[in-house]
Amino acid sequence: MSAPLRIAIAGLGTVGAATAQILRDNAAIIAARCGRSIEIVAASVRDPGKKRAVTLDGIRLEADALALVAPDVDVVVELIGGQEGIARALVERALDAGKHVVTANKALIAHHGAALAARAEQQQTTLAFEAAVAGGIPIIAAMRGGLAANRIQRVAGILNGTCNYILTTMERERRDFAEVLADAQKLGYAEAEPSFDIDGTDTAHKLAILASLAFGVAPDIAAVHCEGIRRLSLTDIDYAASFGYRIKLLGLATLEDGALLQRVHPCLVPIAAPLAAVDGAFNAVQVDGDAVGRVVIEGAGAGGAATASAVISDLMAIAREDRYAPFTLAASQLQTVPPAALAVHQGCYYLRLTVKDAPGALADIAHAFAAQHVSVHSITQRTTEADRGAQVIVITHATNEAAIAHAVQHIAALPISLAAPVVLRIEP
Ligand SMILES: NC(=O)c1ccc[n+]([C@@H]2O[C@H](COP(=O)([O-])OP(=O)(O)OC[C@H]3O[C@@H](n4cnc5c(N)ncnc54)[C@H](OP(=O)(O)O)[C@@H]3O)[C@@H](O)[C@H]2O)c1
Repeated sequence: MSAPLRIAIAGLGTVGAATAQILRDNAAIIAARCGRSIEIVAASVRDPGKKRAVTLDGIRLEADALALVAPDVDVVVELIGGQEGIARALVERALDAGKHVVTANKALIAHHGAALAARAEQQQTTLAFEAAVAGGIPIIAAMRGGLAANRIQRVAGILNGTCNYILTTMERERRDFAEVLADAQKLGYAEAEPSFDIDGTDTAHKLAILASLAFGVAPDIAAVHCEGIRRLSLTDIDYAASFGYRIKLLGLATLEDGALLQRVHPCLVPIAAPLAAVDGAFNAVQVDGDAVGRVVIEGAGAGGAATASAVISDLMAIAREDRYAPFTLAASQLQTVPPAALAVHQGCYYLRLTVKDAPGALADIAHAFAAQHVSVHSITQRTTEADRGAQVIVITHATNEAAIAHAVQHIAALPISLAAPVVLRIEP
């Protein structure tokens, strides 16, 4: 057996502690599968006085993460988090010193991935980030390996467990967003400051990384159109269900006439589609390739052990001396594709219009769609409550975003309109 791979772990929080634990618990099987053992020689934490769930016997504990870039360390594992600050400084220093780097830090990779990949390439070291997208789901390895022969047409994913937990709980327990969020915070499924998750930022980070691997482009987080789930109501979840859909927060990336469209938003997914069946805090990624067709992988998108599983898979690849470019292509070959405007998006739409229950209202609505050449699949008046007007649910045939935006603007300005229209995209 070759010499052990010597690693240093920066951060012994949820993921770091689980990584250390699994490296100990599964040491024999890990060593057998990669032909050498993986040995933790050092670790760093912010608060050395904090009690740790994992035993640190034989591990040098540093107060300064940068001290992990040491001669007896082959791989620095960055499990601190954050796109800037100590995490970025550590990864840059480690790569520049010729160390391999493994990280679970999606914010760092989404913002600085291409520049870090170039640094790794210069030093002929590995930068690996399987855990940065969808936790324990091995989607990066699948994109780089098993799916690499395909022209990827579309990537779609449920990439944030907190949002999926909130949406499925709202639907199952018939409770409002604010109430379910408060419970999720108490149960530890949502952060005390939840905006990073529920406003779609976390999904956007992961989508930018997936889009990079799928389409051979540098991650472009600034180009991701991002809407979260804050404004979703139980009313729309119920109406969507009655039309055969579930509402999911998806990250979606497609190439549209040579331009890259990346979008994160809640959408209606047909109940029979695999992504609709993903429950609770689980994640799933769906990839459409020209040769393989549709592939869907589902699993735990977060949590210490599941994320550590992905971190250790990267370490094992390094131990086996697998060599690959972080984004599959050499950093210099990553293209800069212009971002597509959301206005070009083609698809079907769900609209809920709250209007006066008056003669001619449906005709006014139909006229607004016809004026934009939007073909309507169904238009249904579902409830009439004297004080709140009528709820008119419109499902369109495929049309484009710009036409919908114009029609909605027109309807919102009509005298019959009682509330801002709700517009949700429908995804196959
Ligand atoms: N948790 C998940 O399920 C999950 C899933 C996928 C990816 N990730 C990613 O994994 C990374 C780690 O997440 P986590 O949930 O394990 O975080 P965490 O539980 O908050 O742990 C962070 C660790 O970093 C240390 N740390 C924080 N600030 C530091 C600083 N300024 N200098 C030195 N050390 C510092 C902390 O030290 P103390 O312990 O002393 O406070 C702690 O050990 C993040 O990039 C996250 O996005 C997490």
